Amino acid sequence: MAQEFILSHQQQRAFQPQKLSAPRDFVIPEVAKGNDKTATLVLEIGAGKGKHALSFAAAHSDQQLIAIERTRNKFEAFAKQATQQALSNLTPIHADAIAWIVHAIVPNSIARIFILYPNPEQHNPNQQWLNMPFFEFLLSRLQEGGEVILATNIKSYMDNAEQQSIGVWQLPTVRHEVPANSQRTHFEVKYVARRETCWQLNMRKPVGYQTRFDG
Ligand SMILES: C[S@@+](CC[C@H](N)C(=O)[O-])C[C@H]1O[C@@H](n2cnc3c(N)ncnc32)[C@H](O)[C@@H]1O
Repeated sequence: MAQEFILSHQQQRAFQPQKLSAPRDFVIPEVAKGNDKTATLVLEIGAGKGKHALSFAAAHSDQQLIAIERTRNKFEAFAKQATQQALSNLTPIHADAIAWIVHAIVPNSIARIFILYPNPEQHNPNQQWLNMPFFEFLLSRLQEGGEVILATNIKSYMDNAEQQSIGVWQLPTVRHEVPANSQRTHFEVKYVARRETCWQLNMRKPVGYQTRFDG
């Protein structure tokens, strides 16, 4: 008898990946194909000009970082630095992260996902990553025990993300304030200089977690 399939979360509306066509000039980078079983794969969504991506890759030569940015001028600044620094473990991608991840990333393959200062339009809750049906797809790409790390300076964004993470996505979740001397990204540098409080949410995918996209 077929085993009953039980979702690990409370999100009813399902994301529809089949509706998204592949980004233009789409090529799956070698590192994303999952052929090297020993590689630790890390994703960054909305990398901006790449401050965090460049320093993360330099500090973690044993990990492979794919950093995605959709705004052309920011991506070009990032790509220029990446070329100059020639970090062999950093892959900058110019694309919308949702379509790109749908077409490039296999289930259960990512160790960590950074979403740092996403800053959606304040009044559009649909743009918050944890409100999106896509978040289920993103969790399916994470390894068991893997983490999503979200940072923001917008308290209402953080409060909602924490509530969604625990209530809807049923993830073990830790919230803390970002230290006042932290300078990981261009936006973090700006907020910290203005003495704004920034928060971080670490969300872990438990062993045995089931989504509709596990492959
Ligand atoms: C406020 S900026 C923060 C940039 C950087 N993380 C930082 O903290 O300095 C948010 C970035 O996310 C990018 N972004 C938003 N949604 C995206 C998506 N779906 N795919 C790729 N990039 C996205 C935007 O283009 C923008 O550069």
